Amino acid sequence: MCGIFAYTGAKEAGNLLLEGLVSLEYRGYDSAGIYTPESGVVKTPGAVGALRKKMPKKYEGKSGIAHLRWATHGEPTEVNAHPHTGSGEIWVVHNGIIENFKELKGVLEKKGHTFASKSDTEVLAHLIEEHMKKEKNFEKATLKALNQVRGTYGVAVQYKGEPEKLIAGRMGSPIVLGIGKNENFIASDPSPILKHTKKVVFLNDGEMAVLTPKSHTIYKLTKELVKRAPEELDWSPEEAQKGGYEHFMLKEIMEGPEVIENTLRGRLIPEKGMAKLGGLESVTKELAKIERIIIVACGTAYYAGLVGEYMLEEFAGIPVEVELASEFRYRHPVLNQRTAVLAISQSGETADTLEAIREGKRKGALTLGIVNAVGSTIARETDAGVYNHAGPEMSVASTKALVSQLTALTLLTIFLGRQRGMSAKTGKEIAKELKALPKKLAAILSGKEAIEKLAKKYSGARDFLFIGRKYNFPIALEGAIKLKEISYIHAEGYGAGEMKHGPIAMIDENFPTFALAPKDSVYDKMLSNIEQLKARKGPVIALANEGDKEIGKLADDVVYVPKTLEMLSPILNVVPLQLFAYYFAREKGLDVDRPRNLAKSVTVE
Ligand code: G6P
Repeated sequence: MCGIFAYTGAKEAGNLLLEGLVSLEYRGYDSAGIYTPESGVVKTPGAVGALRKKMPKKYEGKSGIAHLRWATHGEPTEVNAHPHTGSGEIWVVHNGIIENFKELKGVLEKKGHTFASKSDTEVLAHLIEEHMKKEKNFEKATLKALNQVRGTYGVAVQYKGEPEKLIAGRMGSPIVLGIGKNENFIASDPSPILKHTKKVVFLNDGEMAVLTPKSHTIYKLTKELVKRAPEELDWSPEEAQKGGYEHFMLKEIMEGPEVIENTLRGRLIPEKGMAKLGGLESVTKELAKIERIIIVACGTAYYAGLVGEYMLEEFAGIPVEVELASEFRYRHPVLNQRTAVLAISQSGETADTLEAIREGKRKGALTLGIVNAVGSTIARETDAGVYNHAGPEMSVASTKALVSQLTALTLLTIFLGRQRGMSAKTGKEIAKELKALPKKLAAILSGKEAIEKLAKKYSGARDFLFIGRKYNFPIALEGAIKLKEISYIHAEGYGAGEMKHGPIAMIDENFPTFALAPKDSVYDKMLSNIEQLKARKGPVIALANEGDKEIGKLADDVVYVPKTLEMLSPILNVVPLQLFAYYFAREKGLDVDRPRNLAKSVTVE
C-alpha cells in the first residue's frame, strides 16, 4: 500500500513530484524518497514534510521517480526507503512483495553484486542492471527482469543513461499512467495525476509501459503490443484516493479479500499444515514452553482477541484470557515467564495496549504483538510479533484491520498448535480453508447492494441488538460497536445465551435484532433464540449460510454467506455487519469516515 509517482516532461520534476506525493500520503507515510538523474537520490524516514526539509534548495531534473512507503518488510529507515538502486544506474520504486527475492539475491551475489538494504526491491534494481550488461537496452533488460520475479509489484523504473524514459510495470499492485501534453506520469492511483491531466490508462497485470514526454507504449510481459486508448477520469483527487468509492470505510471493507491474501502471503505451508511466521522465529523455543496467553487490546482489536481465545484454546490447547488493556494495566495480574502477553493493535500506538505490554514485561512475561503499523511503539517494544500487512486504514471505524487480525490469529493458532498437539491433517484443513477465504469474501462483497437495501429498511430503528454464540459471539459485539460508532444509535452486542438474562426485556416490534446463525455447532441454539425474539414480535435479520432453508421461515430478513470452518466463520461473517453499519450511517447522512468524538489512534488513557 505504498505510493508511487513518476514524471517525465519539461517542468521541474522535484517540486512536482513532492506535491504529488502529498496526495498519496494516505497510502503510506513512514518513509519517503525521490530521484532525478540530474540531482540524484534523497531518502528519509517520515513523510513528505521530512523529505522536503532534506532536499537541497537546488534540486534539478525534468524527470524523476518518487515514493512513499508503508513498511511491510524491513523497518522504516533511510536505507530501506525507495528508490532503490544497484550501482546507481537503475532506480526502482516498488509497491508489493517480490517473493523469490532471496533466490535471486543469491544468484546476483555470486555474480559480484553487493546489497545495501534488506529490501526485496533492491534485488529488482540489481537484476535489471545485470541484464543491462548483456542486453545493453533499458527496455529489454527491464522486461527480462520482470519476467523473472514472482510475487506482486507495481513499479516505476528509471535509467540514469536515458533520463527522459520511464518504465512502469504491474502485477497485482495498481499502476496508472497519466497522459499529458508533452509530459507523462506514472502513479499508484490517479490522485497525483489529476491536477495535470484527466487522461489516464490503467495497466493490467502482466503489462509494462515505456514512457517518454511525447509517447507511451504498453507491452505485455510476453512482448505483444497492447493498444488501449486513454480514458477521461472525472474524479476529484479525494475521490481518486478512495478508489472511486464514496468513503474510505467502504473502500477498506472492499479490500478484504486482498487483505487476507496479504496477511497470508508466504506464511502458509499448506502441504505440511504449518505456518511460517518470520517475526516469531527468534522466540520459537520460548513459545514452545508457554503455558498461558493473555491477549490485551482495545475496541475492535479486543473483539479479534476474543475470537483468538476460542481458536487458540480449541486448536492449540493453550489456556487464553482476553483482557481490555485499560483494565489489565490497573489490576495486579499474576504473570510469569511461561505467560505470553499478546497485544493486538492496528496502530501499534494505543496507550492502554502499550502500557499493558510494559506491565507484562515488568513482570517477566514474554511479550508479543499482532500489529499493522510497522515500526510503531508496540511493534518495537514487544519481544516478537506478527505484522498484519493490511496497509494503512484511514477510516476511524476499523474494518480491514479486523479481517487481517483474525487471519493473523489463525496463522498463530496453526503455528502454536503444530508446536503442540495439532495434527498435520487439521493444520492442512485449516490452511486449505484459509486459502479459500478471499474468494468467498469477494462473493459476499459482490452482494453488497442487498445489504444496502436492508440498512435502508431498518435505518429508522433507534436501538439494535446483535447476538451470536461461540465464535460468532465476539462478532455480535463487533456488529454493535460498528453501528454505534458511526450511526450514533444505541446498539448492544450479546452472547445469544445471555439474551434471556436481560436484553430480551427490551424487545418489541420496534427493537430489531441481527442474529448470527451460521450452520455450526451452536446453530440449533441460535434458532431457539430467534424463535424467542419472534415470540416478542422483535424484527430479526439473520445471517445464515447459503442453502439454509429453515432460517427464512423464522427471520424477517436473511443475509446469506458462504460456509467455511466454524473457527474461520468470523472472518466472513463480520463483513456483512461492517457493510450494514456503513450503509446505515450513510443513509442517515453522517460523516462515516470521521465519526464525532472518536479518534483513529487513542494515544491517551
Ligand atoms: C480506537 C479506534 C478503533 C480501534 C481501537 C484500537 O478506538 O477507533 O477502531 O479498534 O482504537 O486501536 P488499535 O490501533 O490499538 O487497534
